[in-house]
Amino acid sequence: MDQTVLIRVSNEAFTTMKGRETWAPHGYVAYSKVCTHLGCPVGLYEQELQLLVCPCHQSMFNVTNGAVPQFGPAPRPLPQLPLYVDSSGYLRSQSDYHEAVGPGFWSVSERRHQHQALEAQALGRYGRVGKTLDELDDRLGVARGGRTFMDKIFPDHWSFMLGEIALYSFLILLVTGVFLTLYFIPSSAIVTYHGSYAPLDGQKMTQAFASTVNLSFAVRGGLLMRQMHHWACDIFVGAIVIHMARVSSPVPSASRAN
Ligand code: FES
Repeated sequence: MDQTVLIRVSNEAFTTMKGRETWAPHGYVAYSKVCTHLGCPVGLYEQELQLLVCPCHQSMFNVTNGAVPQFGPAPRPLPQLPLYVDSSGYLRSQSDYHEAVGPGFWSVSERRHQHQALEAQALGRYGRVGKTLDELDDRLGVARGGRTFMDKIFPDHWSFMLGEIALYSFLILLVTGVFLTLYFIPSSAIVTYHGSYAPLDGQKMTQAFASTVNLSFAVRGGLLMRQMHHWACDIFVGAIVIHMARVSSPVPSASRAN
């Protein structure tokens, strides 16, 4: 006989489940003592709550309704042993357990899925890598700084982008301006053009204009740099003006909080 726990729940016969009307004579019930979770002995009885408790992972089984698990990881009820009282007044079992005792092999995959689901839930959306990065970040606090930085780059309200546009156009202005300085000659002296742009060949012009034409047609990437410088300048001025107009106009407090 498998390990069994015998409990007197009441003074009269009662039914734990439909079909078990004769299994608990004089209020005695008997259940398998082998936990249906991982097989620990379910040895603790909470009399007031009428619960059998497994000390391993705190599964709790209600003895009055067929030991259905009320709490914990046990996947199914404890098997109940059918009892009867013989003619001499001894308590005996009507038969063996009607179900397999202990952790059933049929619930192994179910439990594995439960376990995997719990593990995935604990790991969060980005899995093991995300958790490791999270833990690393808890120590380094990079995300907090990064968040503030990213909030500045991508603010909540689009109008805050105007300042950014002005800033980035100014940077482009600086870089392209330095490039153009290397080739532009700021002189108003009159020279005769003999460069690679044939339509102007032999024309008299200022040295500044000649160097500009040279920049556009003889220097690799020169025309692109001139155009970038030109448009960055326009955008910079436009963005600055609109940005100042926005800053000096009344804006809802929620937007200002940014
Ligand atoms: S073995 Fe009983 S709850 Fe885990």
